[in-house]
Amino acid sequence: MKISRRKMLSHSFFMAIGSFFIPISCTSDAVSGNKHLSKGLDLIHKVLSRPLDVAISHLNKCLDSNEIDLENHEGLQDYINSLVTVFFSHHNGEDEILFPTFEKKIKDADFSKLKQQHKELHPTVEQIKNRINIDNPSVNNYREIRKLLKETKVLWIKHRDEEEKIVELSMEPTISSNEQIELNDKLSKHGQDMSEPATLILPFLIYNLEGSDRDEFTSDMPWILKRFIVPVIWKSKWSKMKPFLLT
Ligand SMILES: [Fe+2]
Ligand SMILES: [Fe+2]
Repeated sequence: MKISRRKMLSHSFFMAIGSFFIPISCTSDAVSGNKHLSKGLDLIHKVLSRPLDVAISHLNKCLDSNEIDLENHEGLQDYINSLVTVFFSHHNGEDEILFPTFEKKIKDADFSKLKQQHKELHPTVEQIKNRINIDNPSVNNYREIRKLLKETKVLWIKHRDEEEKIVELSMEPTISSNEQIELNDKLSKHGQDMSEPATLILPFLIYNLEGSDRDEFTSDMPWILKRFIVPVIWKSKWSKMKPFLLT
């Protein structure tokens, strides 16, 4: 199929806009009160939590019937690869920006446990990435991926719950509402560089949330991006993930 130069240019333009608005943290000003940081964390943690359950449940179905779901295998690959990308990007932002900010601000702050939990999670997540990207999927491979996802889920839930408590009770009250918005902006911009391709990552972020969570997460995105570019222009890029998303 021949693609016109005009179509290619508009596609590059939409790619650029999309990449610019990947919110690895919530940058919304719509959050009420002095809770920007914990609300942003809650939303991105939801984006990271749901896919673990969705992928495990899909693999359960395949393993119960002892068959690979070939029709949805590429979609599962895109979905799990997006999860891994957002996972690493989010943790990197916390290690490089969030924790150092409060280590400077709070005397005797100690985030070593949270940092250690990141380190414990990463080798398992890396193994999931390696396993899902092999050329010829097998039932045994799916079984191994399910095992790794379950291990990740156990470590993740413990880390997520502890981190949310620390952010809400120890970090957030020490900074103003404006400082929280600035920090969320910094985290979001940091995440953009690590979140390629935008055509998969943005729909992955948006469509793993629903209702008021999705509204809040996307409140700072331009209308054209959330109502036209992602759902219409980019649809062919992410549609294989559709069975796993809340579209
Ligand atoms: Fe974390
Ligand atoms: Fe986190």
